[in-house]
Amino acid sequence: MTAMRPDFMYGTAWKEDLTQALTELALRTGFRAIDTANQRRHYVEAAVGEGLAAVYRAGVVTRAELFLQTKFTYQQGQDHRLPYDPAADLSTQVAQSVASSLQHLGTDHLDSYVLHGPASGYGWTEDDAEVWTAMVKERDAGRTRLLGVSNVGLRHLQQMAAAGAETPAFVQNRCFARLGWDRDVRGFCTTHGIVYQGFSLLTANPDVLRHRLVGGIAARLQATPAQVVFRFAQAVGMLPLTGTTDPTHMKQDLASRELTLSADEVQTIERLVG
Ligand SMILES: NC(=O)c1ccc[n+]([C@@H]2O[C@H](COP(=O)([O-])OP(=O)(O)OC[C@H]3O[C@@H](n4cnc5c(N)ncnc54)[C@H](OP(=O)(O)O)[C@@H]3O)[C@@H](O)[C@H]2O)c1
Repeated sequence: MTAMRPDFMYGTAWKEDLTQALTELALRTGFRAIDTANQRRHYVEAAVGEGLAAVYRAGVVTRAELFLQTKFTYQQGQDHRLPYDPAADLSTQVAQSVASSLQHLGTDHLDSYVLHGPASGYGWTEDDAEVWTAMVKERDAGRTRLLGVSNVGLRHLQQMAAAGAETPAFVQNRCFARLGWDRDVRGFCTTHGIVYQGFSLLTANPDVLRHRLVGGIAARLQATPAQVVFRFAQAVGMLPLTGTTDPTHMKQDLASRELTLSADEVQTIERLVG
């Protein structure tokens, strides 16, 4: 894994007081890509930054070896702890949110900046277009290398493309096996050269983890079903996220990269419950 092309991402949601310690532990365990958001409701971005500062000080990694990703979240997805002036226009909110993220994370640039979710579940709106344009400006000013969108359906992506918007580098979605592991969106990503980041690969798919075929593959590889799911995700081209709080699981999640699944096994898992 290089900082430019991460192959596993550590997610920092829902960690509250443990955010700094778990970010540090993830980096000491070998994760080199970190996902967060400037959304205090679910993330403590400033504590992620403190974790980063601690590992830099300890000489574990340098900023250049890391891939840092954070997000712009609309007010509707936030609580009262906003990283921008809610009275400002959306473009200004994006600029303020980026500035605050850079300060939290102690860096002058992000590797990826993601629209946390579109304004509407039904399609790509004018608000989204305004936010995306502001995000492109941030990228052009060098404050992020790449851009992404999250929690999108195929329709959002199609409408975004039809509106002439620049193609994102990343799509980050919750990945349900019963939807063919987000087959439609992954198909769009493949066609357009977008890297698909999958989250909730374990929690959204308990049937897969319990499935006897996955259990059989895990037994053959002397691995756990969770590791098989992460390896499968990589085998079909996804960049998986884990937010594990368990040191053993951190090691297991990273070690899944070394497992070998046959093409048949990958195909079987892809069709297991979808
Ligand atoms: N864009 C968005 O809207 C959005 C939404 C949700 C999440 N995310 C991102 O995705 C990250 C990951 O979130 P997630 O929804 O995938 O859930 P998660 O927070 O990673 O939770 C995964 C669950 O799986 C368990 N687990 C992990 N590795 C395991 C292993 N090897 N064996 C057994 N159990 C294992 C964890 O338990 P232990 O802690 O005990 O290991 C935890 O209960 C978040 O931190 C966030 O960065 C983004």
